[in-house]
Parts: sequence; C-alpha cells; structure tokens
Amino acid sequence: MSAQTPQNTRRLAAPDIRARKGQEPIVCLTAYDAPTAALLDAHCDLLLVGDSVGMVVHGLPNTVGVTLEMMILHGQAVMRGSSRAMVVIDMPFGSYEGGLEQAYQNCARVMKETGAQAVKLESGPTVPETIAYLVQRGIPVMGHVGLRPQAVLTDGAFKAKGRGDDERQAVIAEARATAEAGAFAIVIEGTAEPVAAEITAAIDTPTIGIGASAACDGQILVTPDMLGLFDWTPKFVRRYGDLRGEIDRAVAGYAGDVRARRFPAEVETYFSKKPAAS
Ligand code: KIV
Repeated sequence: MSAQTPQNTRRLAAPDIRARKGQEPIVCLTAYDAPTAALLDAHCDLLLVGDSVGMVVHGLPNTVGVTLEMMILHGQAVMRGSSRAMVVIDMPFGSYEGGLEQAYQNCARVMKETGAQAVKLESGPTVPETIAYLVQRGIPVMGHVGLRPQAVLTDGAFKAKGRGDDERQAVIAEARATAEAGAFAIVIEGTAEPVAAEITAAIDTPTIGIGASAACDGQILVTPDMLGLFDWTPKFVRRYGDLRGEIDRAVAGYAGDVRARRFPAEVETYFSKKPAAS
C-alpha cells in the first residue's frame, strides 16, 4: 500500500506500522494543526503530534511546560486535517510518570478526546512497566529512547547519546525493555549510528530515527525544522524548504503594498449593488 494513494481512506494503525519492519521505510513527520496535517497526510505513514509543539508553536524554551490540554487541542486539529496517516500523540512531561493508574487515565483521556491511534511516551527506568500496563489495556504505545527532550533539566542540555560505552549499553537496554513491554514502534533520537543500527537489528519493533542515522526502519523530523522556518536547526535536520524566507518575502510585500496604498485594489473591494432600473 503506497503512501501516495489518495483514494485510500482507511487510516493506518499500529499493526500496519509494525508490519513495515524489514519492508518499506516508514515516513513520519510531526504535525500540530489541521491545514498542515492535510498537506502531510498524502505523503506520510505516521503523523506525530509531538510535544515539540511547546517549542516550535508556543515559543517555550523546552518541552517541560507542555500540558495535556495543549496536546489534546493540537491532537484534535491534526485528526480533523488528516484521514489516512496514523496519528500518535505525545504524552507531555508529568502526565505518565506518577504511577500506572495516572498514566492509564491520562492516556485513555487523550485517546477518547482526540480519536488518535496511539500515544508516545519517552523512556526512563519506570516507563517499560507503564508501557506494558497501557498495551495490556488496549492503548497502543510508541516508545522514545536515546536523547529524551523531557529529561533536559536532569541532563542539562540536548546532547547526542550513545557515543561512549556506558551510554551505549544504557540506550540499547532501554530500547530492548521498551520493545519487550509491547511498544509498536520506537523513536530513537539523537543517538550514534552504531547504537541505532544495533538496536534496529536486535528487535522486531520498527525503529524511527531522528538524528539516529539511516540504519533505522523509518525517519521522523520536526516539520517546521525541515520546512526551514527557523534560522537554527540541529545538525541532523535537512531543510527541504525555506518557509522563513517565503514568509519574510510575503509579509514584506504586504507591508509595502499597505504603506503605498496598493492594497487593497478594486478587485479586492466590495462595492454597493447598483439600484435596479425602474
Ligand atoms: O516532540 C517531538 O516532536 C518528538 C520528535 C522529536 C520525535 O518527540
């Protein structure tokens, strides 16, 4: 089934993504609003409503301040805009680390209120147990290992993982535990190529890389980064567009036309109806 089939309206789901392991590469991007989701839907297998929304849409310094309500609102918009890609919602910091029942209640709320097909949880020592608990209760879960943006306050910075031996073993163990817990796919972020390659070869679960090399089963990027909305992006981002330049050119054109009274012109203006001839 090709991602370019517009007449196909069945949404992809966790088993479809899982079945891609060793077959076609899995194409994923982040999405936060309905019109962008509609454009991405024709090309992507999976749309992630990432908690990166806090940084790239709401201007927060990191993802720690993102709330469940923000994720639900953006998740609903992405669901309305898309019809084919699987939609996965990131569980924000503080919404799943407080215990199994807290995680279940919040994930179930996200699933019910958005209609999305799965949630994503960043890894950590207690998270595999949480993933198993959720999967056993009917909630498909995507894992996230390697660089974990929600751990920025304990890690001190966003730094690539798996470059030294200790960290390498830790990331591999984390990925194995996440796969064994029943995650249908695992994001590997900011991780050295040999580690991503070893994980991808060692587990049956598809791996989705972001700054984790071509060895992964699929790739994801933060959409505003790859569209060129920001003047700085991490090393692993390839810019496929120049949205920043386009917006700057468009807004400069508008501002110049308003100041020179070239906008609006007659074609952009409503006039009174002519009175009917008597
Ligand atoms: O929040 C996000 O956008 C993510 C991606 C970096 C995978 O988790």
